[in-house]
Amino acid sequence: MRIVPHHVCALLALLLASVFPPAFGQSAPATPPSLRNLGAQHSIPIGVSIDTDALETDKDYRALVSREFSMVTPENIMKFEEIHPERDQYNFEPVDALMTFAAEHGMVVHGHVLVWHQQLPDWLLNGNFDRDTLKSILREHIHTVVGRYRGRIAIWDVASEVLDEKGTLLDTFWSRGIGPDYLELAFNWAHEADPSAQLVYNEYGAEGLGAKSNGVLQLVTSLRNKGVPIDGVGLQMHATLDDAPAPKDVTSNIRRLARQGLEVHISEMDVAIEKPVTRRKLARQARIYADMLRVCLAGKPCRSFTVWGASDRYSWVPEHFPGLDAALLFDRKFRPKPAYRALLEVLRERP
Ligand code: XIL
Repeated sequence: MRIVPHHVCALLALLLASVFPPAFGQSAPATPPSLRNLGAQHSIPIGVSIDTDALETDKDYRALVSREFSMVTPENIMKFEEIHPERDQYNFEPVDALMTFAAEHGMVVHGHVLVWHQQLPDWLLNGNFDRDTLKSILREHIHTVVGRYRGRIAIWDVASEVLDEKGTLLDTFWSRGIGPDYLELAFNWAHEADPSAQLVYNEYGAEGLGAKSNGVLQLVTSLRNKGVPIDGVGLQMHATLDDAPAPKDVTSNIRRLARQGLEVHISEMDVAIEKPVTRRKLARQARIYADMLRVCLAGKPCRSFTVWGASDRYSWVPEHFPGLDAALLFDRKFRPKPAYRALLEVLRERP
């Protein structure tokens, strides 16, 4: 074979590709940097809560979510009023669609939430059920929902937000109706329905050190000591620029939970900004996100890091907290914000 110049080039390219893969190799494209790809190098899923209406209607949202995240939490569609709107009727369709989306994109699913006192349907709130009936309703609900997705939902928020600011048990629909043992019953039923799922207690305002996180520690320790199948704690991490937990306190909190044999999930992070949103504020927001991810990566066993929404376009913040905005990693036009770049940097630091 006569070696003509373009063959020389091709040979040279091949040689370079074998010496410097994959940057020079045309057939082996470098993995694009994304939260999910860099997270995988640390073996940590980077999760996002999913707005399923947007998932259905907005292809840019779908592309963003599947490119950047390796885990999904349904933002609303598994809450009692949505998934069990009438006593004899379940609404599984949106959840099934999300499960398909997650499977297609190789994403872990974090179920949310079985026992919570908010977003309950009227038939339940106004049913005047006695204790035994309420117990059987909750048991059936948990068995049906967890059982349907058995083996496909890796982590379940079994209960959320049962403590007040002092760390004592709140008086809620469930505690009033069933009594304080509703929590252990719920964990036991969830475990019966899917013994392979990781069962979590999920709380807000208990990320650092203080009365509420002391209460969480006490609650989950006593449940474990009773043999209740609880595996982890979700630290929600809904922060603002002026009200974010100190990283060292979160580190200590994760450590003390770990000493009780519990795993930790940063389960719902967002950092709301008081309007107007400025570059300086976005930079402060980026630091808070980065600090918490760093704490999570260092704080074994912090098992996952989830943000409560992908883009400011669909965030719950402006609607629920007037005056606050821009809490997430991508802006309303899906452009990456400093917080996104800061998380990439943290993930690049070291596996
Ligand atoms: C929020 C959703 O983001 C909103 O869309 C909904 O209107 C109310 O609930 N803690 C939780 C989540 O555990 O379920 C909440 O989600 C945010 C606070």
